Amino acid sequence: LDQIFTPIGDSLPLVSQDLRKAAIIGAGQVGMACAYSMLIQNTLDELIITDINQEKLEGEVMDLVHGLSFVEPSVIKAGTIEDYQDLDLVIITAGAKQHPGESRLNLVQRNVEIFKSIVPEVVKRSPNAILLIVSNPVDIMTYVSLKLSGLPASRVIGSGTVLDTARFKYLLGQKLKLDSRNVHGYILGEHGDSEVALWSELHIGGSRLDQLIPNWREPEVYDQLDQVYNQVKNAAYEIIQRKGATSYAIGLGVTQIAQAILRDQNHILTVSSLIKDFYGINDVCFSIPAVVNRQGVERQIAIYPSDEELAQLRKSAQLLKEITSGIGF
Ligand code: LAC
Repeated sequence: LDQIFTPIGDSLPLVSQDLRKAAIIGAGQVGMACAYSMLIQNTLDELIITDINQEKLEGEVMDLVHGLSFVEPSVIKAGTIEDYQDLDLVIITAGAKQHPGESRLNLVQRNVEIFKSIVPEVVKRSPNAILLIVSNPVDIMTYVSLKLSGLPASRVIGSGTVLDTARFKYLLGQKLKLDSRNVHGYILGEHGDSEVALWSELHIGGSRLDQLIPNWREPEVYDQLDQVYNQVKNAAYEIIQRKGATSYAIGLGVTQIAQAILRDQNHILTVSSLIKDFYGINDVCFSIPAVVNRQGVERQIAIYPSDEELAQLRKSAQLLKEITSGIGF
């Protein structure tokens, strides 16, 4: 087929091969939602997707690349572990997923064994990559990946409560008939049942909650806010009960984190990262607002939780530390 082309001169080595190369490990519903979201938002130049089920992987990639002429083209390949060379970002979604009613923490043993076989192989081939962990329980799996990889803490990040924070902004926005982009609030701590709503620093527009509703802690108001918090905390259970898994929103959330990294955005996100001396909390991975850029998590930004919120965060951290020490990390 080359005969249709006329060469016009020798090709010279490119000055810079600064291509945005990533891998997604796990072609399940979450992994493919991440791939699709990054494709339509033109996040990457090259994407390798791997999975233990080769036939399903081939089908997923075929289905994705057939749409390339509809979007900004990029290279998407079904790969194997040998393709993990020189990657900028490795997104790990592989592992067991929650069954209806099952907690994320219940997946830990199965997923730790899977990570023991994946993480060292990735780091061997892409020692400069940033690891973005999505598999649940994501805070535990982020901490385990940090230990297994030996990478600097800045370069091992979990999707954390980025999705919970988005659910919080959306559901509170619905309650207040506001665009979720005008609800500035965070869900922190574990991406799971012990997560914490940072009511004390919630801003609607430019005003603090306690300026807008001074009596927000009184039962007739607080009960409505607590209802929103419980909808956020239980969202995944409700979705899994109905459709078997969550995928679209986590795919969009992972894309936002990937873009903060690959476009060096310095975007404050509630990703899961290693906590060092945060109000006495140490040596655990969970979510506090962090600045995400090409270095990964470069800085965590100060927050001023109420005494009650801090007690809840300490409880969340303690729960996670008990689990990581219980599995030998
Ligand atoms: C959820 C999954 C990503 O919360 O844990 O939808």
